[in-house]
Amino acid sequence: MTQSLHRHRTKLALLLSLLGFNAVAVGEVEFLHWWTSNGERKALSVLDEHLIHSSLSVSTSSVLGGGGDSAMTVLQARALAGNTPSFAQIEGPSIKSWDAIGILHNINAVAKQHQWDDVLYPLTIDINRTQNGYVALPLTLHRLNWLWVNHQLLNKLGLEAPKTWPDMFDAMQKARQEGIMPLAIGKQPWQIAQLFESLVIASGGVDFYNTVLVDLNKNNIDSDQMRHALKQFRRLSELLEVSEESVNSTELSNQKWDTATAALANNEALFQLGGDWILGELLAENISVPSHIGCYPAPQSHNIFLYNMDSFIFMKSKSFTQDDAIQLANALADKEFQTRFNQVKGSIPVRSDIDLSSFNPCQIQSYKDFNYAIEHGLAAPSMTDSMAVNPMAQQAINSEIFRYYRDSSVTEGEVIKRIISIAESN
Ligand code: BGC
Repeated sequence: MTQSLHRHRTKLALLLSLLGFNAVAVGEVEFLHWWTSNGERKALSVLDEHLIHSSLSVSTSSVLGGGGDSAMTVLQARALAGNTPSFAQIEGPSIKSWDAIGILHNINAVAKQHQWDDVLYPLTIDINRTQNGYVALPLTLHRLNWLWVNHQLLNKLGLEAPKTWPDMFDAMQKARQEGIMPLAIGKQPWQIAQLFESLVIASGGVDFYNTVLVDLNKNNIDSDQMRHALKQFRRLSELLEVSEESVNSTELSNQKWDTATAALANNEALFQLGGDWILGELLAENISVPSHIGCYPAPQSHNIFLYNMDSFIFMKSKSFTQDDAIQLANALADKEFQTRFNQVKGSIPVRSDIDLSSFNPCQIQSYKDFNYAIEHGLAAPSMTDSMAVNPMAQQAINSEIFRYYRDSSVTEGEVIKRIISIAESN
């Protein structure tokens, strides 16, 4: 630890003790993440405050770009340069890959103290534990197959929230005719590909989704259900491209998901389809949910729970020892903190023993649906949001889906062929 860092810690310890906190050991830790929207920053401030109370101060390195692709590239580059942050936001199977190169602290002592084996859901344990034990700390469970609906516009159009894709397309068509943006979307590949996941589920159900986008099974990728999902996806792209021209908003072509959420909240767009970080964003802007903006399962995905999960990994370095990792992870595993963080983030907790009665009704619904889904084999990991396949395959598939969406000359046969060849080289 450098002299100046030490001085900084000592000053902070003094300040905390003056403020009445019992600071024992104070440390500064660096956190790499991609939480940059207003709602995400609000959740991050819950984390900052909690760590200050735990005698730790965080310096954050945020990398723009929801979904985490850019943050993961930065993390890899930093690891290669031997300059890792103390801890980093991470998702899914890449936790196991990072552990395989021997760069992660295990946090088994924390898992034991917080009874993770008993209170975490089995799917959470699977993702965060390797043969070395717990090598990541889980924090949020996000639901991705949510349709966010602007009730004011829905009423104006005299419509009900759509339960099927034909109804969804009709509603979008009607909105377009009235000069209303039908669906607010972020236009980066991961967000576009996320829309496709809901169409795959609608086309063949959750088992079909799993064989195609989790197992990458060739026979199911080359199937009528897949062709149907792609055709629906093309229809969606046509509806959106045309509608953008008609509402004259060319600036939307580089739109981020939170800009899209602002359009939904400002009564400019009828729908947004996507993860419940959208809820975190709406709550941060004091939008009433579910009265102003309602949450409904994405069409034809009732009872299905498409999820991703944010975890943290703790990275070995001279200035961040195993003891440091345990001290930090212990603070982050705190049940009160995990409750508060999820409440603000829009997600549901990874622990099964947290009372959600003070959460937003959409989170309470999400919690019920999650429990139903895990009991009935209806919970599915999001491929496009890093929960199912390795990052190389994920980015390659996302970009094929994105290309199909953007370029109407790409045929269904072509995209199917390309996804199969990615599956074969996986
Ligand atoms: C993360 C969320 C985040 C979202 C948008 C997802 O990959 O799991 O925590 O809010 O990206 O940035």
